[in-house]
Amino acid sequence: MRNGRLVSSKKIDFFKAIALAALFAAGITTASAQTANQAWLDRGIWHGSEPTRFLVTSLDQSLMAQTATKELNRGLNGSAGPDIDDFTNRIVLGTAAEVRKAYPKIGVPEELPAESYWINTTHPHHGTLIIVAGGDERGVLYGAFALLRFFAENNAPPKKVIRESPAMPIRWVDEWDNANGTIERGYGGRSVFFENGKVRDDLSAVSEYARLLASVGINGCNVNNVNGAAPFLTPEMLQGLKRIADTMRPWGVRLAISVDIASPQKIGGLKTFDPLDPAVQAWWAAKVGEIYAQIPDFAGFTVKADSEGQAGPASYGRSPADAANLLAHALAPHGGVVLYRAFVYNNHLDYNDLKADRARAAYDIFHPLDGKFALNVIVQIKYGPIDFQAREPVSPLFAGLEKTNSAMELQITQEYTGQQRHLVYLAPMWKQMLDFDLHAENRSTPVKEIIAGKSFNRPLGGMIGVSCVGRDGWLGSPLAMANLYAFGRLAWDPNLTAEQIAEEWTRQTVNTDPQVVATVTKMLIQSWPAYEHYTGPLGTQTLTDPTGSHYGPGVEGSERNGWGQWHRDDAQGIGMDRSVATGTGYVGQYPPEVAKMYELQATTPDNLLLFFHHVPYTYKLHSGETVIQYFYDSHYQGADEAAQLVDEWETLKGKVDPGLYDDELARLVYQAGHAIVWRDAIVQYFLEQSGIPDAKGRAGHYPGRMEAEDARLSGYKVIDVTPWEDASGGKAVTCDAGSAPKGCSAEWTYTGNAGRLDVVVQYFDLRGGVARFALDVNGKPIATWTADATLPSRRPDGDNSTRFTTRGVELKPGDVLRVDGTPDAGDPAALDYIEIEPAAASR
Ligand code: GCU
Repeated sequence: MRNGRLVSSKKIDFFKAIALAALFAAGITTASAQTANQAWLDRGIWHGSEPTRFLVTSLDQSLMAQTATKELNRGLNGSAGPDIDDFTNRIVLGTAAEVRKAYPKIGVPEELPAESYWINTTHPHHGTLIIVAGGDERGVLYGAFALLRFFAENNAPPKKVIRESPAMPIRWVDEWDNANGTIERGYGGRSVFFENGKVRDDLSAVSEYARLLASVGINGCNVNNVNGAAPFLTPEMLQGLKRIADTMRPWGVRLAISVDIASPQKIGGLKTFDPLDPAVQAWWAAKVGEIYAQIPDFAGFTVKADSEGQAGPASYGRSPADAANLLAHALAPHGGVVLYRAFVYNNHLDYNDLKADRARAAYDIFHPLDGKFALNVIVQIKYGPIDFQAREPVSPLFAGLEKTNSAMELQITQEYTGQQRHLVYLAPMWKQMLDFDLHAENRSTPVKEIIAGKSFNRPLGGMIGVSCVGRDGWLGSPLAMANLYAFGRLAWDPNLTAEQIAEEWTRQTVNTDPQVVATVTKMLIQSWPAYEHYTGPLGTQTLTDPTGSHYGPGVEGSERNGWGQWHRDDAQGIGMDRSVATGTGYVGQYPPEVAKMYELQATTPDNLLLFFHHVPYTYKLHSGETVIQYFYDSHYQGADEAAQLVDEWETLKGKVDPGLYDDELARLVYQAGHAIVWRDAIVQYFLEQSGIPDAKGRAGHYPGRMEAEDARLSGYKVIDVTPWEDASGGKAVTCDAGSAPKGCSAEWTYTGNAGRLDVVVQYFDLRGGVARFALDVNGKPIATWTADATLPSRRPDGDNSTRFTTRGVELKPGDVLRVDGTPDAGDPAALDYIEIEPAAASR
């Protein structure tokens, strides 16, 4: 719980926000009934006006056409069901061939490729006839959803013909679900697919999820974690997977699974998993046959091998192409594909070797293999060369595979970008990746055209979104769903803009009030730059500890270990020299025009400078600021931008659903507080490291702040926080339940001006217990709250540093402020500081 009593007219609202913050923190949000959560499909198409009903008929009897019919009835006619006699308005669905036969004069296009649709509205007699023709049955389904989207946004039938085809054939989501029901990097609760080592009995949420996926054109879903995949090929598991495939099939979503390349040995009883061994080849052929016997439309395998502890072909001196082709040959006769991940690197790099560079790995390993992969292999490449950071350059491997299919892997789940506790709309970042022109072969080759197969004339390619949905409102946060939506829309049409998609999503999910659409869109668009500003700017990546939760600040966590997410800061400067001339040579992996830009500091864009170059803190950016001053400025700016998100959302009170309003307000208030944790950690770290003061006098000066370690303490003990920058002054106080069972207290005497002020208590909300806090002034109780959030980490650090603000407290010099903390189980009621701020200036 994070926000305190408001002694003003807004009191009731804030109490509501508090209650919801507590629910959210405890992971029991109201959005948690996943089968009831239709996300953007929860459309009120008619927005209170008299609905126009349509008789929906299908010329096509396929499963997907039946789904399309049901879906149109559900969306347009509601649960009442149609009364046939009343209908003057009709929607007719069918494949292009069927429609052409039934309506020879209507002008269905000659060429309508698979998955495409054509929607035509005419007004015969006095009604409306809408024809939805699909290039195939999946096209019929996508056409139906497109028509529903049109209605939801416009409340009226289309006036013009709509004709669309997907930009790329592979449009998949990957789930990182484990058989026990946990989800790697999932922030939305437990698995909808698995539990207790098996496929769940109740798959209704899977059907709802497939419906959401189909509505934005996603045609494949890989359901299990890329790590530890061997148990998913056992006969018992395959029976369960068949049920998942059956559940998703009506929505045109094909099942795929991650496989462990060592499966022949791990579960097949063979002595080897050498890809060139005939027994291994026979094992895979038989296993694939077993899968297709049960799942005839099985989509294929995803593979993580020789990476982060997963077994791989390197054990036998074989290449990724050998491993990929082994699986590809087994799948080819059945029409399946292999998504072989290029996320292969050595996580035991030598930090002291200035030439060592993890960013080089994918290209170094895969580029020499170009042309050696089977036709049904797609190399799945993360958008940047490291690992889903807040900012990275595009991976050069997209230009390094001209004779191989490739797909771009993005993360919908916000592993390094705020874990859905922070609002971070990722479509603007994805767009930068998709639009980036790699200039392969000295011609224009934007990434979106490479992965669509256009640039190098490849038959396959696409986009993969690591989604990790769970049973708590899918992604655990309603506004985060804009990312899932945007992923599908961009995979369908990468030329859409991030703003267009945000508007579409808002109209369907929130409502169509122009002020709401404009405000939510603006907030979404502002959120990624804000996050980058208060986490890791100038291409330093997310300055978090890659060996920890990947959530809160931890500058040194990424240095001096083998993982290679380095930014190499020291007392003089910061950044990785990846140039050809003096650095790791990574820049040379890009085609010449791009390499030329990144090779020199002067031509590298500011926002990636420190990814490519090591510079002194006094280096001047294109903006004219020094690097160090930019660090200070961007962190203050980012924290202010996070606070603005709260202000903007507050303008929507009464204009959006009250439940959504309160829920999101609590989240944004938390985010604004955590942005201050980030700001202070990074700023204090680099102030110490560089010794260069903030020209604007903010870093290291916190007016109104009183440290817990400087308080009069009773029971509380002073501790060093690790990493030190995560606590103000590097220290906190904790209360040991053993020696102080009744709790501890910290007392400060107020010395500022008299007035009505806000009191911030910065504390650490640890997992494993629910500590209690109380704030008194001169012995008079002001506020109480519990530390019941489910934030990462079981020790006080930047993952769980959070705040409780009590607004409008009357204070005068000499007043004594006291915080009582009562520890509980693993939560020692740790405190960092209190801060007295001008009223309403704090969150
Ligand atoms: C990241 C993530 C891992 C994941 C890996 C992958 O490193 O932290 O949890 O397994 O990516 O993409 O394989």
